[in-house]
Amino acid sequence: MPQKIYVNHIGEYLGSEVTLNGWVYNMRSSGKLHFIQLRDGSGIIQCVIFKGNVTPEVFDTAANLTQETSVSITGTVKEDNRSKLGFELDVKDIKIIAPSVDYPITPKEHGDAFLMHNRHLWLRSSKQTAILKIRDEIIFAIRKFFHEREFTLVDSPILTPAACEGRSTLFETEYFGEKAFLSQSGQLYGEAAAMALGKIYCFGPTFRAEKSKTRRHLTEFWMVEPEVAFNDLNDNMELAEDFIVYIVESVLKNRRAELELIGRDISKLENIKKPFPRVSYTEAIKILNDLGNPTEWGGDIGGDEETLISNKFDRPVIIHRYPAAIKAFYMKRDPEDPKVVLAMDVIGPEGAGEIIGGSERESDYNALVERMKEQGMAPEDMDWYLDLRKYGSVPHSGFGMGIERMVRWICGLHHVRETIPFARMMDKIRP
Ligand code: 4AD
Ligand code: MG
Repeated sequence: MPQKIYVNHIGEYLGSEVTLNGWVYNMRSSGKLHFIQLRDGSGIIQCVIFKGNVTPEVFDTAANLTQETSVSITGTVKEDNRSKLGFELDVKDIKIIAPSVDYPITPKEHGDAFLMHNRHLWLRSSKQTAILKIRDEIIFAIRKFFHEREFTLVDSPILTPAACEGRSTLFETEYFGEKAFLSQSGQLYGEAAAMALGKIYCFGPTFRAEKSKTRRHLTEFWMVEPEVAFNDLNDNMELAEDFIVYIVESVLKNRRAELELIGRDISKLENIKKPFPRVSYTEAIKILNDLGNPTEWGGDIGGDEETLISNKFDRPVIIHRYPAAIKAFYMKRDPEDPKVVLAMDVIGPEGAGEIIGGSERESDYNALVERMKEQGMAPEDMDWYLDLRKYGSVPHSGFGMGIERMVRWICGLHHVRETIPFARMMDKIRP
């Protein structure tokens, strides 16, 4: 079989005859010429069919092509300075692989509901493929970042016997006569692994039965969660900063064309440098009150409040030391102010909302048992987790980053549903 040639490498074949396999993205004709936009997943190339260069059959085939027909096109690679790609194909032959009749997603505008209903086809549009490539780059950068820093990837289970982030958003299933839940977070297992390997991360799908319809919540999303033994809250904040800067730089370096294609204001991403501003929860409440927002100390900082705060900055802002009562049981109390825990949320700019949530963990056995009881949990159900505090407990910290939140921010998307190939939301399980 001859080596396959892809559009993004077409420049290497300037002047040669090549065969490209793909789908018809768009077409137009003018008398003796047909122009086909051929897409193959790696890019889009204009193919020019000149009546004088092809047989009448081929010219006729070109005239009748329809959107998303799959084809093999043979021709000579020519320079084309008017196109973004810089090359076009001077066509000699066209073979239809399979027809496509009445493709539902035409180049005109469609509504969101229609596009989501046809998500399996919508994925083929150039904006959606660009977003998926940026998502891929983000995930690759994440793995590279941790690999370079000698973290070990430790996969956490998806079927779990207990909640990590509160019972209200658990998906429940039956497990051979026992109750089991889909994992909300790999953190508790990550903590066990950090006691074995020092620096670890887990990365996988996580599930939350979110009963609200927002532009930021999915019921199934991907989370990457580092956990580091001997890291305190400050180390954790620094790790989060380095991590975000690394990811943004990788996307700017390797996916600039895709950012441009989707119309992202790249200068906003170029601002993302260390250090990030840090404000305590108490300071954040003051900022909100000064802006006329009535949230009182002890209240939740919701999406609208996050945006009010983040609008004051041109880069992500870290909010730390939240009231213990509104945060998870495993977070360590601040020894200097036991009303608050050593938690941190990283809020993205431009209305991106919370992209990271994390904390220093409670490492004292008795304090942890007390926190569990306060939150109505049964310590005996988590005996294995308490063991980590019995056998050589150490200070440790970690965080979770939601991949779709990160993609939404970096791509500047309005809704999280476009950040994942097949979104799962309260009212969406198809296709
Ligand atoms: O703040 P969360 O709930 O933190 C945890 O789950 C910790 N156990 C993580 C840890 O410390 N290892 O979630 C972490 C991040 C959020 O900041 C957000 O980016 C994302 O996960 N996230 C969601 N993304 C999409 N849809 C949802 N429903 C999400 N819930 C959380
Ligand atoms: Mg959170």
